[in-house]
Formats: sequence, structure tokens, C-alpha cells
Amino acid sequence: MRLGILGGTFDPIHKGHILMAKTALSGLWLDKVVFIPAGDPYFKSGSQNISLAVHRLNMTKLAIEGEPAFEASDMEIAREGQTYTSDTLKELSEKYPGDELFFILGADTLVQFSTWHEPEKICDLASLAVFGRRDQTGDERLSSEIDSLRERFGARIHLVDWDGFETSSTEIRERAAKDEAEDEVPAAVLEYIREIGLYRPHPSLEQMKARLRRELKPSRFIHSLGVADTACDMACIYGEDPDRAYLAGLLHDVGKPYGGALGHAAAGAAIAEKYYGIEDKEILSAIAHHTVGSPDMGLLEEIVYVADMIEPGREGIPDLERLRELAYSDIKKAVFACAASTLSHLKEKGKSIDEATLSVYNKYSFYC
Ligand SMILES: [Fe+2]
Ligand SMILES: [Fe+2]
Repeated sequence: MRLGILGGTFDPIHKGHILMAKTALSGLWLDKVVFIPAGDPYFKSGSQNISLAVHRLNMTKLAIEGEPAFEASDMEIAREGQTYTSDTLKELSEKYPGDELFFILGADTLVQFSTWHEPEKICDLASLAVFGRRDQTGDERLSSEIDSLRERFGARIHLVDWDGFETSSTEIRERAAKDEAEDEVPAAVLEYIREIGLYRPHPSLEQMKARLRRELKPSRFIHSLGVADTACDMACIYGEDPDRAYLAGLLHDVGKPYGGALGHAAAGAAIAEKYYGIEDKEILSAIAHHTVGSPDMGLLEEIVYVADMIEPGREGIPDLERLRELAYSDIKKAVFACAASTLSHLKEKGKSIDEATLSVYNKYSFYC
């Protein structure tokens, strides 16, 4: 099988990418083109302004739906740490043994190719399918670059003439945010962007929910809705703004796919600020402190800390009914009881006691 590989951030995938893949398919007699969205940059080096990988992958899948020769792969997204093309090609050559790989890239990218990680290995594992406008592919500098790559790395290079796709991704994002990119972006992708409010600095509450539903596991999403409702109810009792409480509860676990048991709180605050456009420092702080609390919590932080523990979907926590009663009658006592419950749970499981929970316990014992 002759297999084309088209990598990119795909933020968003647009009609130019599809056209490129179709041109590769017919021009190089390929059997299949695999679209490989680049990994999540959140914990990786490089640009920090790329949408979360889950959305870029979802959009890629939507864009190629109904195209039997196209496939989307999450291999770079699933890989830990820095992502290199040479690793991706190695993985593909193991997945498709005996197949011929064609790595698709633009003529303007080729000039930096020798600075990439392990260019020799890339050339060993795949042919390079270089796409350029006719004036580029006939260019002398490009042909001398090609000669040099052939000589240095034994590169097998195929030049493909094509007219390209002039619009930049930045422009496409701006137009897509305003729902005006039907010429550049496949309809299903545009619908996805619209539904989750991608590229909007301040998505609506409904868009945030739609987005969160795709980022979290279903059980985690339901838990988040439970915390949002509970925090909202508690806010009404204690005189906090119910909308802020709802939002903080909704987003409290937004970092769950990234930060582990404790680290997800800090990751969540960063994601809420960067990707959900949350500017309210108290909401961000409530997200950042929801796991272990803090001795200096404000009312909103206390509400989210307690709501996380007692939301209606929670089970298996000792004394849960008493915690729920306290949550709606005395917030300080509820915080103390939640910290006490966490400490006894940690002790029972033989896990280390974290300082923050201990200091919450000590501080709030004052109110009991
Ligand atoms: Fe959490
Ligand atoms: Fe939670």
C-alpha cells in the first residue's frame, strides 16, 4: 500500500488540507492519506496558542467523514513529551509493515528540513512529497536544496505542483469565530466550531458546556454539572453570585485530563483562563484550590471546595449526609468536615497527608 502522511496542527483543518490530500492521492497514486494532528502543546514546547488537541482531532475526523481513503490518527496526540516526525514515521512503518510511506510537506517547509530532528531517519522511512506552486517547484534554490537533501540523506523526493490555498490559518480562525468561514472550512467543522465557540475569546455558557462535554469523560462531565448546580444552590444561601458559583463549579475539573489527582486543579485554572476566557480571579482561584483547599479561602472557594465533595452524584464518602446538611446550613463547618473527611480517608488508605488539607483542617477547626 502507498500511504500518504499529512501532519499539521489542523487548527482548524480547512479545505486546503483536504485539497492537498486529494492531490496527493491522485498525483502520487496513493491508497490512503493519514491525517495526524500535532500533539497538545499545553505541556509541550512550541506555540502556546493552539487549541486543545481533542478539538483539533474531532475537527479532523469531521472533515474527512465519508472519505474512505482518508484516516485520522491520534498517534502524536497520544504520545508523551515532545513529538518528532521521525518517531511518527517509525510508528507508522511498524503499524503498516512493507507499505511505502510518503510524507507530505510544503516547498517552503522543505528549506528548513535539514534542521529537523533526525532528518536522515525521516528520509530513510519515507519519501518526501513536496507541494509547491509552479513558480516554487521550478525555483533554482528549491532544486539545489533538493539535490543537497538527496546527497546528504539519500532523500527520495517527489515534487507536486499545486496552486495552494492562500488564506492563512489566523484569518480562517478569525472568520470561523464570526461564523463566516464557509468558503474555507468544511461545513461539519464549521458547525463544530460554532457549537463549542472555538476561537471566541468569550464563549457562551452553552458553548462552554458543549466544549467541556468533549474534553472530559462522560462521568466527569456529569460530576461537573452536579458541582455547578450544587455550588449555585449554595451561593444563593450564602449570598454569593450564583452565576459565578455555577461557572466555577462547571469548570472546576477542566484540567482533569492534564494534571493528575492534585495537579489538575492548577492545570484547570490555567485552561479556564486561557481557553475559556475566564478573567474573574476568584473563579480561577476556586478552580485552583478545589482539591486540597487553602486556609485563606474566600466564600466562592469554600463553596466549590464543598460542592465538589457533596454534589448529588457523589457516593462512598463516609458521613456524606451530614456533610450535605452542613453544606446548606454552615459553610465554615462544612469546609472543616470535608477537610476532616479527606484526612481520615488519606489516613485509612495509608496515603501521605498533604499540608494544604491539614492547614485547612486546623484553620477551620476554629469555627467548630
Ligand atoms: Fe477535581
Ligand atoms: Fe471534582
